[in-house]
Amino acid sequence: MLLGSGELGKEVLIALQRLGVETIAVDRYDNAPGQQVAHHARTITMSDPAQLKALIEKERPHLVVPEIEAIATGMLEELEAAGTVRVIPTARAARLTMDREGIRRLAAETLGLPTSPYVFCDSLEELRAAIDSKIGYPCIVKPVMSSSGKGQSKIAGPLDVKAAWDCAMAGGRVSHGRVIVEGFIDFDYEITQLTVRALGADGQAETHFCDPIGHIQVNGDYVESWQPQPMHPAALQKSRDIAEAVTNNLGGQGLFGVELFVKGDEVWFSEVSPRPHDTGLVTLCTQWQNQFELHARAILGLPVSTALKSPGASAVIYGGVDAKGIVFDGVADALRVPNTDLRLFGKPESFVKRRMGVALAFDDDVEVARVNAKMAASQVRPRVAGQTPA
Ligand SMILES: Nc1ncnc2c1ncn2[C@@H]1O[C@H](COP(=O)(O)OP(=O)(O)OP(=O)(O)O)[C@@H](O)[C@H]1O
Ligand SMILES: [Mg+2]
Repeated sequence: MLLGSGELGKEVLIALQRLGVETIAVDRYDNAPGQQVAHHARTITMSDPAQLKALIEKERPHLVVPEIEAIATGMLEELEAAGTVRVIPTARAARLTMDREGIRRLAAETLGLPTSPYVFCDSLEELRAAIDSKIGYPCIVKPVMSSSGKGQSKIAGPLDVKAAWDCAMAGGRVSHGRVIVEGFIDFDYEITQLTVRALGADGQAETHFCDPIGHIQVNGDYVESWQPQPMHPAALQKSRDIAEAVTNNLGGQGLFGVELFVKGDEVWFSEVSPRPHDTGLVTLCTQWQNQFELHARAILGLPVSTALKSPGASAVIYGGVDAKGIVFDGVADALRVPNTDLRLFGKPESFVKRRMGVALAFDDDVEVARVNAKMAASQVRPRVAGQTPA
């Protein structure tokens, strides 16, 4: 049972089905991308503990695979403790990573990993005090519960603080007004270190690392990623040590996306997804086993290979329009760009800034792949069905 059936969940479902698994795709709305390919589709409010419990007890899945953060993870912990389900990678990992506080305190305070300086605040006054006494400028304010950059803003000076607070209150996933303020890390580049915990021949969990994925975020949302990101050996080693420390603690089996900032040989932990990562869409064209197949294999207790097939890149296709039932122009032009491919997710409703598809490109030269992925993405033009093309 996949909890969350967007574009990432859809690929996990396909990977599981290829290994003979029967799947149930759950989402908060009907006809979500993963629901279009799963054996069974269910629509519930996954953040509602009672609805989640009722569905799991009715369907009795062997595995519950959270694919998004906003679910009733406390209920998953109860059901896991009662032996009702196995949660991937663990119910504790789902709970700790669903808000910024659990995972940040684990990484920085329990594991002693390097992170940006941070303070959690419950009011505008506390936020001002934290910046003045500890964090300084520039800094970044984020709701504790949010993703894809929602409610997040960078603050250059005292005049921006109120606007950042208001933005966080409007953009958070739940109404309680808690934020994290982080010191701004002036990194050279950021990476996702995909890390797999899979069973070895002896039945023990082993850690495998994919090649590092470089990416660019605009307003906290991923627009472009590539693999491999060239790195100094020392920075790569530190990244993997950090990724191993975090994923060992979270435990279980599955793939994790560990987000890290790098400056020279210095590396900071940012956050981790205990599941495939949006920037890891690039692995659809770069690895023999993409991140979705790795997740499926790992959770089923099967062997994995993280070997690279070719350098490559991905570029996001945004909706560009607010409309239901869009169609895409320019697909043929996009696919005429050498060594490219597309995933058009089939989301039933488009928003201007909603991710509706991704372009993929491979090339021996990762910089060429980046140019080609962006070129292909730019050719694809979502349009309201029934309207004449521009
Ligand atoms: N302390 C920081 N210093 C510098 N840049 C930062 C910092 N925190 C976040 N960023 C930038 O903002 C991006 C998004 O931040 P973060 O990953 O915390 O947000 P998010 O909403 O969880 O995003 P997503 O869900 O897409 O991963 C980062 O990838 C990075 O580019
Ligand atoms: Mg992030």
